[in-house]
Amino acid sequence: MKKITRSALVFLSVLALLPAASFALNPDPAPVVHDGATVWLDDLDISEVTQGWGTARKNASVDGKPLRIAGRDYARGVGTHAESSVQIQLDGGAYEFAAHVGVDDEVKGRVSSVEFIVIGDSRELWRSGVMKAGDIARDCRVNLAGVKLLELQVSDGGNGIDSDHADWAEARFSAPEGAHLHAVGMPVVAPYLLTPPSPATPRINGPTIFGVRPGSPFLYTVPATGDRPMRFSADGLPDGIKIDGASGRITGRVTKPGAYAVTLRAENSKGNASKRFRIVCGDQIALTPPMGWNSWNCFAQEVSADKVKRAAEVMVRSGLVNHGWSYVNIDDFWQNHRDSGDPTLKGDFRDERGVIIPNQRFPDMKGLVASIHDLGLKVGLYSSPGPWTCGGCAGSHGYERQDAETYAKWGIDYLKYDWCSYGAVDAGQKLDPQKAPSFNLGRGERDREAEIAPYRLMGTLLREQPRDIVYSLCQYGMSDVASWGASVNGNCWRTTHDITDTWASMRGIALAQDNSAAHAGPGNWSDPDMLILGHVGWGNPHPTRLTPDEQYLHMSLWSLFSAPLLIGCDMEKLDDFTLNLLTNDEVIAVNQDALGRQATCVHSIGDIRVYVKELEDGSRAVGFCNFGRLPAVIRYDAFAPLGLKGRQQARDLWRQMDVATVDTARESLPLTIPAHGIVLYKFTSMP
Ligand code: GLA
Repeated sequence: MKKITRSALVFLSVLALLPAASFALNPDPAPVVHDGATVWLDDLDISEVTQGWGTARKNASVDGKPLRIAGRDYARGVGTHAESSVQIQLDGGAYEFAAHVGVDDEVKGRVSSVEFIVIGDSRELWRSGVMKAGDIARDCRVNLAGVKLLELQVSDGGNGIDSDHADWAEARFSAPEGAHLHAVGMPVVAPYLLTPPSPATPRINGPTIFGVRPGSPFLYTVPATGDRPMRFSADGLPDGIKIDGASGRITGRVTKPGAYAVTLRAENSKGNASKRFRIVCGDQIALTPPMGWNSWNCFAQEVSADKVKRAAEVMVRSGLVNHGWSYVNIDDFWQNHRDSGDPTLKGDFRDERGVIIPNQRFPDMKGLVASIHDLGLKVGLYSSPGPWTCGGCAGSHGYERQDAETYAKWGIDYLKYDWCSYGAVDAGQKLDPQKAPSFNLGRGERDREAEIAPYRLMGTLLREQPRDIVYSLCQYGMSDVASWGASVNGNCWRTTHDITDTWASMRGIALAQDNSAAHAGPGNWSDPDMLILGHVGWGNPHPTRLTPDEQYLHMSLWSLFSAPLLIGCDMEKLDDFTLNLLTNDEVIAVNQDALGRQATCVHSIGDIRVYVKELEDGSRAVGFCNFGRLPAVIRYDAFAPLGLKGRQQARDLWRQMDVATVDTARESLPLTIPAHGIVLYKFTSMP
């Protein structure tokens, strides 16, 4: 029998999973005339549409008005909102799809841009190009010969999803009489737990390294699972810091720069544990990605001191703190608002010295911060280099020094600095900055230096403060931020626009991360935005719309990416499944690995993408990710692109179990990867 080559073996295994028709597509846009029936998109089950805001509507815009694009009315169609996706099972039984697409007139006057994309059996068939509010509708006409599964997508057009009301007007299929076309969601899979419970014996979790600047207040809570009470101790701590035996908190100040080898110890009635730990006192902080919680994805404009304090308490009570979760970050809406009708957001923005005044919901910021520090946690805050934040609250423009000093006085440990209205300033102050819209990307042609300047200013001011403040740049990846973020003292930088709890959003963001990977390393992290696990909803909470497998994929990819891990859910509604996802120490260890490499995709086969992250101990974390709608059952043998040689031990990190040994020169590895899911393994060389 003829020997099949190794890569062919993988290819053939995957091929078996792909719809045969995916290789027989004809994306010829020429109109085709058929006898047969018209099947209207709006007659299909549009509840299967997932989108970034609101719900898809039949024969109406997403706001429920008649469909209208550039002054032309359409009686039929589907009104949706980026980022949107719907899949339609055709099974080769449709001739053609046609529609008029565009931004609905109901957003006229606002900044909106979208792109319509048609995908057949994982291959792109048509793309509208970026369309803005007021653009006349574009005609979409796609030949569907042989297509089994069609996906209609609307992306954010590259500038976030604000005001992206998108219409598939007069959207219809021509198909043979009696053809059965139907919109399909992902099969319902009940949440299933993979992370084994932590043992009763002590286990010290968290990173192996921690950075601090000379003289800054030191706060590190040793994350450890196991029965309480537990006694903590440490050998080799540098002068100036000490560990509290009961809480495991290390506090004080290290003044002498250097790298200190420490051994952390924990003991309870069931046993004891120790862990090697390095404290590096020098210039760089955030030597591993920050982990914590942020108020935006759940509370948005409803945030208050009370809600933040309760979130911090749950961080401790739920045990999350024992796995290394430590920041409690207040996002937008702690300041006063420029024109909100809400009385709790009304008040002076600043005092006579220009010092910012928090709104009534945060009557004692210093006290709030101190009470969260008392829990062993750290606190983050949010502002904008523009006059207004994205939500329309007071930004830092013109008051950067006062703000940096105020944050330090309050004891803030983390600042997210969000571009928002800075676009008006960047555009040369032609607009009165006080009247500037709160979200404004600014120049059409990007001027890199002008965009860097406000981040450099705040970065310099933060470094002058007598405490360590992690600096998180939020400008959605403009001007290749990864290439200059570190030069302005940035510790992390958003690479993409805002995430929402849909598959389309998470997938789009995940697939864009490879571009910034080369610049990530200890102290400098790419930020694909916060986690959309648990109860999220931007002031309108609901369980995440990601399936359980999509959630495993999300948490695994963010770990492989060395991304800041910021929980975005209502902590008081943490369910067992979400808690289980957030407390897998072997998965978290991939994120917190001291080498600080960001995984990239090194091998794609159809919808399967294989991400590899090199780890400090020489092993590699490998995510076999299935972006397709069908489970994949494969034998994987393309080990060379993963950098794996010789005999390897494969460990399933979610199950925390060794699952196989594989001789990479001769053997293959059987894998079953759930649809929209992942198999996350760690490979360690065997003697
Ligand atoms: C932007 C950011 C979000 C959030 C909001 C607050 O959209 O990207 O993460 O901070 O602003 O208004």
